Amino acid sequence: METVERLNSHGNRDLDLDSSYRRREMKERAPRNRTLTLSEEEIQKYRERLLRLERPVSVAEVENRTICKDVFEALDYLPPSFVDLVFVDPPYNLHKKFNLTTFRAMDSDRYEQWLEAWVKKLIPLLKPQASVYFCGDWKSSGAIFNVVRKYFRIQNRITWEREKGRGSRRNWKNCSEDIWFCTVSDDYYFNAEAVRIKRRVLAPYRDENGRPKDWQQEEKGRFRVTYPSNIWFDLTVPFWSMRENTDHPTQKPEKLLARIILASSRPGDLVFDPFAGSGTTSVVAKKLGRRYVGVEIDEYYCCLAEKRLELAESDRSIQGYEDGVFWERNTSIWRGRSETGK
Ligand SMILES: C[S@@+](CC[C@H](N)C(=O)[O-])C[C@H]1O[C@@H](n2cnc3c(N)ncnc32)[C@H](O)[C@@H]1O
Repeated sequence: METVERLNSHGNRDLDLDSSYRRREMKERAPRNRTLTLSEEEIQKYRERLLRLERPVSVAEVENRTICKDVFEALDYLPPSFVDLVFVDPPYNLHKKFNLTTFRAMDSDRYEQWLEAWVKKLIPLLKPQASVYFCGDWKSSGAIFNVVRKYFRIQNRITWEREKGRGSRRNWKNCSEDIWFCTVSDDYYFNAEAVRIKRRVLAPYRDENGRPKDWQQEEKGRFRVTYPSNIWFDLTVPFWSMRENTDHPTQKPEKLLARIILASSRPGDLVFDPFAGSGTTSVVAKKLGRRYVGVEIDEYYCCLAEKRLELAESDRSIQGYEDGVFWERNTSIWRGRSETGK
């Protein structure tokens, strides 16, 4: 197990966290490109805010902070039973470059061992009523299932359509991801009311008295508000004209996190992300009045997270979640807004 841990948490030959941001290429951007980047000054400013974690710490010392560290080490120092909700978006079992760290694909058994090595360390951090969401693509999903079924009650598997994906002539384009919804026990919090979806009604049926059946007539059209199923079609992966977009290669949409955080946590709860990337979980937790802790090995991504957290102080909007409901994808056009919805 030790070998697997080391291989994949430190197995990156170029890893040099102190200089990771310096070696990034400065890309040419189109004028309307809103991708968040960092200047040298910002990097200096935000890296001061990061926690390095060299000893066991209290909740007060870590809440609302980004920890820049290998998760295998960070988990050993975090307090027991302090987490209400975990969102886990680990490197999938693919060859993938995350700034200077490269995650290398391995056989499924080995990936399973890698997962289990840190899942075991995560368990003591969770409250007995905690929920945990695990993301994976189709290749990683089986290994995730094998691990989570040993440690959690599996409540559901969500599948979401990721619009982006490379086409293939010899296979089906890979456009879906799974999110395993797990809990520590059967005593868990779930708020379906908080995550209702507002849809435009295409077939406006009426009852025998001529009244709308499950829909409302509004100024902008006919709408139905429904509870979400475990198939999610309404998410847009961040792209260059969206305010939330960064250079992170696998950034999750804020809308996806909003749905999970609103359903599975209360205001003031603590939301933890052990593979925080560009900080989407922490940012959405902050926007929704939850506490947060994120762990990320790459310093540049940690600084991006800090910049997003700072921006969230003055802009709490979440694209696709407005007026207490989730809107279908691309509804901004008929709602009279710009394509980015802001
Ligand atoms: C799939 S990405 C998470 C993206 C994130 N959900 C977001 O919205 O930006 C996985 C992240 O895990 C980080 N990572 C990989 N190995 C790690 C480790 N051993 N400890 C901490 N972070 C790690 C990578 O740098 C990468 O940013």
